[in-house]
Amino acid sequence: MSQNVSSRISGFYKRCVEDRLRAIQALGLLDEDALAHLASGGGLPTAVADRMCENVIATHALPLGLALNFRVNQRDVLVPMAVEEPSVIAAASNAARMVRLSGGFSGEADPPIMTAQVQLDDVPDTGAAAGRLEAARASLLAAGDAAIPRMVARGGGCRDFEVRVLSAELGVLVVHLYVEVGDAMGANLVDTVAEAVAPLVQRIAGGTIGLRILSNLSVRRLVRVTATVGDDALGGADVASGIARASRFAELDPYRATTHNKGFMNGLDAAAVALGQDFRAIEAGAHAYASLSGRYRPLSTWERVPGGLVGRAELPLAVGTVGGSTEVHAGVRAALQLVGAKSARELAVVLASVGLASNLAALRALASEGIQRGHMRLHERKRALAVTGTGSDEATAPPSGEGKRFAPERAEASRAVQHAEGGT
Ligand code: MEV
Repeated sequence: MSQNVSSRISGFYKRCVEDRLRAIQALGLLDEDALAHLASGGGLPTAVADRMCENVIATHALPLGLALNFRVNQRDVLVPMAVEEPSVIAAASNAARMVRLSGGFSGEADPPIMTAQVQLDDVPDTGAAAGRLEAARASLLAAGDAAIPRMVARGGGCRDFEVRVLSAELGVLVVHLYVEVGDAMGANLVDTVAEAVAPLVQRIAGGTIGLRILSNLSVRRLVRVTATVGDDALGGADVASGIARASRFAELDPYRATTHNKGFMNGLDAAAVALGQDFRAIEAGAHAYASLSGRYRPLSTWERVPGGLVGRAELPLAVGTVGGSTEVHAGVRAALQLVGAKSARELAVVLASVGLASNLAALRALASEGIQRGHMRLHERKRALAVTGTGSDEATAPPSGEGKRFAPERAEASRAVQHAEGGT
């Protein structure tokens, strides 16, 4: 998005879907194809779907919304989110509005370095084998590069190499190749490298080749974001202190850290899905990283500073602006145009900022009125839809209240939805 486009669009939530789209069109972010795709309601032609995965019988839709108010590294960003859970988009937008009062989110992402793993079993002397592999570092990196010439031509390629002895007793050793993958998520490239270097690794080390695959724990592809938010924006010093205490709770307790991280991933995953990213890989990497110290920890923390809070998050984030479904899915292309990230690294910073915003919104609600009031208000429309299939005002009224007709089957369905939605 150009520097002069604002991610604040007044009254966006009150407009009808067509008006919202007109407002977005006026920003000039979307090309004709993307606009036509969104105006037609989104979706995926079954013929395209049929080439994306196997045994296709239909497509499966999710609502696509926009989180507003985000400012990331001095750039206003509209964040597309695909999510079925009410309140995720509103909460992230609300937190982003608070954070922007103090300048917005800032962050940085490591160069896009992915990890290829080659497993060897039954290596006779792992110590000596590791030494020989180290000595062959240059030829191993060259063998990896030879397998991905186009990436090398674009400035990527194998950057580093590491040997890890997992069990000297069992002769199990793993070789890591660290591969720079440009603006791609990089899984295919890395798998290609792993398979290409494995025979050479075996010739040097001996033993039997095992797996040759990327690791989704991409510790050399971390993203770090930070945000400051003032007491006033949060609703007072007590709320700010409550958020800091909630953060400490998550640091002390893996049970709480899990839910804390779920709230963080609420927004990040929704944006990742809209942007066609491999959210399974993101989730796997995030939670492994959260437990890397030996105890499961929060991905983000909030610390009290004079007049407010500072939030920080760090996690591995393997995302791409090219390749994968970015090539074939019109909705993903539209989402990428909306977010306007020029590189995978920039996209990673935006996604982590969305996570931090979701986390702030959740902790603020929990530290003040509790999650249920605001959350359930937004759940109401969805519940009404489940009951009547319309989501009309009539339908959103409580079944027995305020002069509306009581329909036992409606109350029953309402209870079923409430049950299904369980713990928010
Ligand atoms: C609900 O989707 C997410 C929360 O449980 C997160 C949290 O507890 O921090 C509200």
